Amino acid sequence: MSTLADTPLATDFPCLRREGIVYLDSAATSQTPQPVIDAMDDYYENHRGTVHRSVYALAAEATELFESARDRIAAFLNWPVNCTIFTKNATEALNLVAYTWGRANLGHGDTVVTTQLEHHSNFVPWHMLCEQTGADFEMVEVDDEACLRLDQLDTLLAKGNVKLVAVGHVSNAAGTINPVAEIIEKAHAAGAIVAVDGSQAIPQIPVDLGELDADFYAWTGHKLYGPTGVGILHGRKELLDAMPPFLGGGHMITSVSVDEIRWGQLPAKFEAGTSNIAEAIGLGAAVDFVSAIGMETIRAHERDLCSYALDRLAERSDVTVMGPLDADRRGALVAFTHDIAHPHDIAEILGSAGVCVRAGHHCAQPLMQRFGVAATSRASFAVHNTRADVDAFVDALGEVRRIFG
Ligand SMILES: Cc1ncc(COP(=O)(O)O)c(C=O)c1O
Repeated sequence: MSTLADTPLATDFPCLRREGIVYLDSAATSQTPQPVIDAMDDYYENHRGTVHRSVYALAAEATELFESARDRIAAFLNWPVNCTIFTKNATEALNLVAYTWGRANLGHGDTVVTTQLEHHSNFVPWHMLCEQTGADFEMVEVDDEACLRLDQLDTLLAKGNVKLVAVGHVSNAAGTINPVAEIIEKAHAAGAIVAVDGSQAIPQIPVDLGELDADFYAWTGHKLYGPTGVGILHGRKELLDAMPPFLGGGHMITSVSVDEIRWGQLPAKFEAGTSNIAEAIGLGAAVDFVSAIGMETIRAHERDLCSYALDRLAERSDVTVMGPLDADRRGALVAFTHDIAHPHDIAEILGSAGVCVRAGHHCAQPLMQRFGVAATSRASFAVHNTRADVDAFVDALGEVRRIFG
């Protein structure tokens, strides 16, 4: 197995070559390594054409680059290529399911279950769906460690009318790694399908979708060292085949006449219009980048940083960490409140020391409400971070104490 010692570190990320930057906000968006930038540049400089439309060399090369990226992304996660759909981001992928599967399959008497840990992108679309279809919206709460109350899920599933469970794989706000395999098993046994938001899981932990058996799995490219503007929806073939299209337009049809429109095959049926070609190619390069290091290696490295950060924060009596305190049960981030300083003040003071952390509700307001806070500060770790970065972050918290007395 490779180790991070012989793999690309901060210097491989052009933006991190800037003096004095300690980037601890990869859970918001990751930095972009040179090979990903190079892959997109190569498309623009040498193979610029549209995909799936023309037969001249440039267009054929562009199509080959685009489809080869899809092949590598699907193989990376062990999911069929034609059920791996390019979207704009995770938000669009989840909305695609809510608008197509959801509006075709839900009505009065049905229930959608989501959780208190969700990012708004896995909460708001289902809420809207329920309002528009008359289905009931239910939320599984978390315990004091920000872990899901599976007893509540059991109670909801036992009612027999749950059609869909929407759950995040790793929480962006508390860090909790959810037992999604167990949740999928329970939901399937109760006749419900499961949509997983894997936006934080894909960059942080090894994921095998074939093994996991989710019905839909959505994630976003810019957190996996890829570009913005590209996300992925993996779906189960029977469901995708039966679903109506999301957007209508070019590429998603086989024939159009005034009387009848026939939809295209998967994945074209869900990829209307000109695709995000450079971004998809960039995401393919991002998958190559993490695959060369190995997701097991990445997880071990980031788990170590997270564990070290938890130990260092435990030295401070002015900080309260949200989520499980065991690094095995959390992703590569620590979110916390401070006894006197507001998260935005913390982010500003740390920022002036070059330490980039996020402050806010992290698009997870139901979770903030559960813990009675409006916001937290969050430091998140990536493949290029080191223990020295964690030290810089915790030392800068000393400055917060000094300023606030
Ligand atoms: C857990 C989780 N889900 C979904 C999203 C939404 O990602 P995007 O805005 O790229 O669709 C994020 C982004 O912060 C996230 O952390």
